[in-house]
Amino acid sequence: MSASPTTADALKAVPLTDDVLTYVRDQAPPLSEVQRALVERTLALGGVSEMQVPPEQGALLTLLARTAGARFAVEVGTFTGYSTLALATGVGPGGRVLTCDVSDEWTAIARQAWEAAGVADRVQVELGPAADTLRGLPLDPVVDLVFIDADKAGYVEYWELLVPRVRPGGLILADNVLYAGEAASPDATGNARAIRDFNAHVKADNRVESVLLTIADGLTIARKKS
Ligand SMILES: C[S@@+](CC[C@H](N)C(=O)[O-])C[C@H]1O[C@@H](n2cnc3c(N)ncnc32)[C@H](O)[C@@H]1O
Repeated sequence: MSASPTTADALKAVPLTDDVLTYVRDQAPPLSEVQRALVERTLALGGVSEMQVPPEQGALLTLLARTAGARFAVEVGTFTGYSTLALATGVGPGGRVLTCDVSDEWTAIARQAWEAAGVADRVQVELGPAADTLRGLPLDPVVDLVFIDADKAGYVEYWELLVPRVRPGGLILADNVLYAGEAASPDATGNARAIRDFNAHVKADNRVESVLLTIADGLTIARKKS
């Protein structure tokens, strides 16, 4: 049975005003020069820039990768590489991030940032539909951490391709699981419906324990059971 929110619960959820968000971001580590430049470069692309994870979520990805002791991470959805950079920082020297995207143009920007940050040797980009790339990975449970952040209609397939490849105790993260709040509606359509179906899929999956966080556009953190 799920717990319905009460007035007291609602009071615990802090409205994210500009001031509060600025304060939250002030608590995260300051952006490096490379991160700052990558944010600027991505903003110059226009509206698509909103696909980039925000700084506090990038910091969380690094922290989770470090906490999980991740040495091999798989990312679905590179874009201009901000989240990849966060993961590459988290896996540390000698670690590896395999990241999937379909865009030459956006991943070219990403590569420049990884070079500038000195982590390019840890990152392998696979261009093409992510499902094809993931199907081609060995079926060994050797992946320590997964970050899913690409086309919403593909989330369930990515999940099913990746969970068997994650080691027991490894983490599977999925972004945009609130879809601007639209996923909460039983009448959700389009991408919001795809996300709602994905969330139900995760909830029903006995291979993992998971929690949906209200950071940014919603982030699910799942841990593969031993
Ligand atoms: C939300 S963005 C990723 C943002 C990135 N994680 C970041 O923080 O900067 C989604 C990315 O998924 C890519 N994408 C969309 N459909 C895809 C597919 N079928 N296979 C691989 N990548 C895909 C898009 O090209 C886009 O760059």
